[in-house]
Amino acid sequence: MKQQTRPGRGEVYLIGAGPGDPELLTLKAVRLLSQADVVLHDRLVALPILDFIPETATRIDVGKCRDRHPVPQEQINRLLLEHASAGRRVARLKGGDPFIFGRGGEEIQGLLQAGIPFQVVPGITAASGCAAYAGIPLTHRDHAQACLFVTGHRRDNGSLDLDFPALVRPNQTVVFYMGLGSLPELASGLIAHGMAPGTPAAVVEQGTTTDQRAISGSLTELPGLVAQAKVRAPALIIIGSVVSLRKELDWFSPEKTTGPVETEPALA
Ligand SMILES: C[S@@+](CC[C@H](N)C(=O)[O-])C[C@H]1O[C@@H](n2cnc3c(N)ncnc32)[C@H](O)[C@@H]1O
Repeated sequence: MKQQTRPGRGEVYLIGAGPGDPELLTLKAVRLLSQADVVLHDRLVALPILDFIPETATRIDVGKCRDRHPVPQEQINRLLLEHASAGRRVARLKGGDPFIFGRGGEEIQGLLQAGIPFQVVPGITAASGCAAYAGIPLTHRDHAQACLFVTGHRRDNGSLDLDFPALVRPNQTVVFYMGLGSLPELASGLIAHGMAPGTPAAVVEQGTTTDQRAISGSLTELPGLVAQAKVRAPALIIIGSVVSLRKELDWFSPEKTTGPVETEPALA
């Protein structure tokens, strides 16, 4: 397909696509996507959302997996620059919110240096989407006055670099992104630092989609329950007494469809 060029008028839209349900896209995301000449999208962007990409736009799948890195981050940054410098409107579509564990900041730093104009469109992050669709309010006056978003992703040397004493404080909810693979160590680390083993905890797999599964139990039980249910990524872990409200507030019953479930990504 011949690509549009408008010398001097290129721009990048860094767009959060939300956690999966296409109806959670913002009006602004849909509008800017419909104007794009080129769209670079991640693997975590749900397929129905890709239907909003205009047929005339060039689509580039830059999705990443832990062991396969189809497009390295440096190359993504370069692609954004190249297309925008050629005068194209480039939509960079990322799962959830681009500024939450999404490398959105890194991508626009490169654009800033090159003087390329950009806009950032926030998306519903996985914590908000999964919690809402699993019936778990992340804060609640009787349970939690704070909520922490934490990465459970291991460093290259396999270690978890976490401030456990800060995570076990009372009256807060802790949400782990990218923590499925390290769930047993996360649970034992929290308990070793003083969190009650009976603290309610949940894992939400493919949150907000028709394939959503939510599994809850105590912090000690959760790793076993998750292994038994063969939970796969993307999955989010929510820990804190707010999880107990799920019994009362669970409202979303996805109609099960069968579809491929992919593996945990290292980064968006
Ligand atoms: C690299 S982070 C990207 C987060 C994204 N920028 C956001 O704001 O949601 C990827 C992690 O987000 C979580 N995640 C994203 N979408 C999810 C979904 N639909 N259901 C459950 N977890 C999800 C998982 O923990 C996954 O490993």
